[in-house]
Amino acid sequence: MTHTSSESGLARAPRGFSWRRWRNRKIASPAFQSWASRFALTRRHSKREGEKLFDLVSGFVYSQVLWAVVDLDLLTATCDAPQSVSALASRCRIPEDRMQALCQAATALELFERVKGGYQLAPLGAALIGVPGVIGMIQHHDVFYRDLEDPIALLRGEKETELARFWPYVFGAGSAENPEVADRYSRLMADSQSLVAEETLRTISFDGIRRLLDVGGGTGAFLAAVGARYPDLKMTLFDLPAVAPAAEARFLDRGLSDRTRIVSGSFRDDPLPEGADAISLIRVLYDHADETVRALLASVHAALPAGGRLIVSEPMSGGDQPQRAGDAYFAFYCMAMQTGRARSAARIAELAQEAGFVEIEIPATRRPFITSVVTARKPGVA
Ligand SMILES: C[S@@+](CC[C@H](N)C(=O)[O-])C[C@H]1O[C@@H](n2cnc3c(N)ncnc32)[C@H](O)[C@@H]1O
Repeated sequence: MTHTSSESGLARAPRGFSWRRWRNRKIASPAFQSWASRFALTRRHSKREGEKLFDLVSGFVYSQVLWAVVDLDLLTATCDAPQSVSALASRCRIPEDRMQALCQAATALELFERVKGGYQLAPLGAALIGVPGVIGMIQHHDVFYRDLEDPIALLRGEKETELARFWPYVFGAGSAENPEVADRYSRLMADSQSLVAEETLRTISFDGIRRLLDVGGGTGAFLAAVGARYPDLKMTLFDLPAVAPAAEARFLDRGLSDRTRIVSGSFRDDPLPEGADAISLIRVLYDHADETVRALLASVHAALPAGGRLIVSEPMSGGDQPQRAGDAYFAFYCMAMQTGRARSAARIAELAQEAGFVEIEIPATRRPFITSVVTARKPGVA
C-alpha cells in the first residue's frame, strides 16, 4: 500500500539519494555498531556515543538517585566529614547494603566521593546546596515524575496530572485564594527567583527606568533584586491577592517599603495599574495559553506610556535549535501543568509584535537553562 505524505505525517522525501537516510540506516545496523566499536578510528567516538545513549536510557534512574540523596538530607549529612555507610544507614533507617548501593550510585554520579572508607559530598553535590531553589525543585519532582509515568497518555492529553493541581493558580484568580496553596508555590518560586533575577540583571540594563511594574511578581523576590541594584527605582508589584502579605513582608524586611507599591488583582479581569515606564513579566507567560498571553500583552501595552518598555524573562524553547532545558524539561513541565507552554523567544517576539510592540530584542543570556529574555517598546516617544 502506498502512503501519501499527509497520511504518513512526513514531508515528502526528495527522490534519489538522501545522505541522512543512508547515514541513519548505516548507524542503525547492528553490524555497523559492532564494527565501529572495534575499528581504531571510530572506537572512541563510538564509546562516547554509547555512553550518551546509555545516559538517555537510564536518566530517570539517575534523577531518582538524586531525589533520594536530597530527600534523605544526605547532602547536609556528608558535607563536613566523611560518613560511614553504617552511620548513614542507621540515620536513614535503610538496610546497610542498600545504603551502600545508594552511596555508590551517588559517587558514580559525582555527587559523593569516597573518603577514608566512607563517603563525603563531592564538589557537584556541594553546589546543589549553594544553588538557590534547586533542592526545592528536586523535591517537588515526585509529583512531576508521577505525571511522566505514562508519557504517551500525557502527550495524548489523556492524563489528569498532579502538577496541574500543584499550581492551581494558573487556572484563574479564584483558585489562588487558599493561602496554603499560595504559600506552597510562592516559596518554590521565590527560592529559584534569585538565579532568574541575577541572569536577567546581567543581560539587560534597567537604567533610565523610573518605575517598574512587575506583573505576576509573586512575593516580590524579583523586584527586591532589581531594587537592590537600582536604588532610585520605584516599583509596583501586581499579583493575585493571596501573595500580597508575603510580598509586603519581603519589602519591609529589605527596607523597600517606601519605594514599592503592591496592587492586588487578576490580569485576567482587571486592568493593570498605570504609571510605570517599564513592565516586567517574569516566568509568567509560560504558565498560560496563547489567548491569555495575547490578552495580557494587550493589557501591558495599554498600561504603558508611549516609549514604555516590556521585559519578558523566563525559560524558553530553543525554537529551531531545541535545547534540553527549554524543549525537554520545561516543555514537558508546562504540558503536565496543562495550561501553558514553553515558547521560543521568536514566538514571544511575534506575540509582542501582534500586541503592538516594536524594537523587539532577544539579548542572549549566559545560562538559557535558567532564563531567556525578550524586550520590546511601545511605539512613540515618552
Ligand atoms: C510562575 S509564578 C512567577 C512568580 C515570579 N514572577 C517569579 O518569577 O518568581 C507566576 C505568578 O503569576 C501569578 N499569577 C497567575 N495568574 C495571575 C493572574 N490572573 N493575575 C495576576 N497574577 C497571576 C501567580 O500568582 C504567580 O505569582
